[in-house]
Order: sequence, then structure tokens, then C-alpha cells
Amino acid sequence: MDPDLGDDDRISVSPAEMRALRDEMQRFLLEYRFGMQEIETKIAILRDEFLYLHDYNPIEHVSSRVKSPDSIVDKVARKGIEPEFAAVREHITDIAGVRITCSFVTDAYRLFDLLTQQDDVTVRTVKDYISDPKPNGYKSLHAIVEVPVFLSTGRVVVPVEVQFRTIAMDFWASLEHKIYYKYDRQVPEGLIESLKDAADTAAELDARMERLHRELHASPQPAEPTPAPHRGALAV
Ligand code: GTP
Ligand code: MG
Repeated sequence: MDPDLGDDDRISVSPAEMRALRDEMQRFLLEYRFGMQEIETKIAILRDEFLYLHDYNPIEHVSSRVKSPDSIVDKVARKGIEPEFAAVREHITDIAGVRITCSFVTDAYRLFDLLTQQDDVTVRTVKDYISDPKPNGYKSLHAIVEVPVFLSTGRVVVPVEVQFRTIAMDFWASLEHKIYYKYDRQVPEGLIESLKDAADTAAELDARMERLHRELHASPQPAEPTPAPHRGALAV
């Protein structure tokens, strides 16, 4: 007998039960993958239509992920949620996540409006950390939205966390994330101050870039350059 394990600690699960649990988990996550794909498609359509209508792409980058079973289990333990699929479904709303990095702050809000106004998208919660940044300086516009997914067994509604931000906000958030984990969530005070300062600089850059962008589009197009005089074929 293993001396480290008392009889009470033994959980006997047959291989068939383990396989059934694995299958249930995969099926559970599949719905979130489909929900995420629905949002990705909606964003891709908006981007392509924008390009077609305005010759302008407001999106720099889209990234998506389905939470790993390990992080779901960690979050269930951290938040004291019942370790059952129904409870996880109800309380964890960021299993599917889509992050949309835009060129400018106005684009982030515009895409948020265009996505959330669609009649098959229901907004559950919105957290506007752009107008109201977190104390550490974090900025982004977050929404938990619900989208329908049509399976062979019928319609299911899937929550997806959608984050809208600018390149500058994304740059800041990815560095802050690395620092946060490097220091195991106990970031030294001086570094917290510097990060806050960097977030302010990023916000100033966003404002300047947006002003420049507006000026560029407000100014008249330069005249077509006059064609160079013909200097003979294949002149190099
Ligand atoms: P979680 O339990 O972490 O999901 O947070 P929450 O339920 O309070 O939701 P919130 O909308 O505040 O944050 C959700 C997600 O936003 C996180 O999982 C991160 O991706 C991102 N986020 C929120 N705050 C920060 C932050 O301070 N720094 C960075 N780098 N990312 C953040
Ligand atoms: Mg999260």
C-alpha cells in the first residue's frame, strides 16, 4: 500500500469513466470553440466590408483562444465554483475569448458597437476600462456577449469574452502580464509606478496618433504627380 495515501484519499475511477469524463470535457469545450468562431467570422466580415466600402482596415490583429482544461480547473478552485459542468457554464464566462486589436480608440468603440448591435448577439456585461482604466493603468473595452450556435442536437447559446483595444494598449498589457507573472503577482512598488507611467504614455501616443490620422483624412488628397517625360524604352 502507498504509505502517502490513506484509504480516504483514494478515488477509484475506471478507465471507462475517465474516458467518458474526457469526452464530456471535449464536447463542452467544442461549443465554446464554435461560439468563438462565430465571433471571429462576424469580425472578419466587418473588416472586409470596411475595406471594401472605405478602403480602410480598422483592425490590426485578432487573436482567439479557448481556455485550457487546466486553467478552467484553476479558476474553478480559485473562485470556489462547484466542480460541475453546469456551474462552470454559469459562472465562467471567459472560456471562449476573442481579442481585437484596433488601430485607434475610435475604431475599438466603433467595432464594439457594430458587433453588439447585431440582432443575434446579446450583451451580458460590458467593462469599459478605456474610459475607466484599472488602477494599474490597464485599458481595454471588455464585453461578455452571447451568440447562438446551431448543433445537430439544437441551438445552444455560448458566452464569449470579447476585448477591444489599441496596439498601444496591447503592447502595455502584454508587458504588464509578463511582469506580473515574473514577480508571481507581487510586483515591486517602483515597477508598479513605472507601469502606470508607461500606460499614461501609451494613452498619449494613442491620442496623438488619432489626431494625426484625422488630420491626414481631413486634408485634401495631393494632386496626381505629373508623369515623368518618356525617356525611351527600358531606360534604367
Ligand atoms: P478574470 O477572472 O481574470 O477573467 O478577471 P475578471 O473576471 O475580473 O474580468 P476582467 O474583465 O477584469 O478581466 C478579464 C481579462 O482582461 C483578463 O483575463 C485579462 O486578459 C485582461 N486583463 C484584465 N485586467 C488586466 C490587467 O491588469 N493586466 C493585463 N495584462 N490584462 C488584464
Ligand atoms: Mg479571464
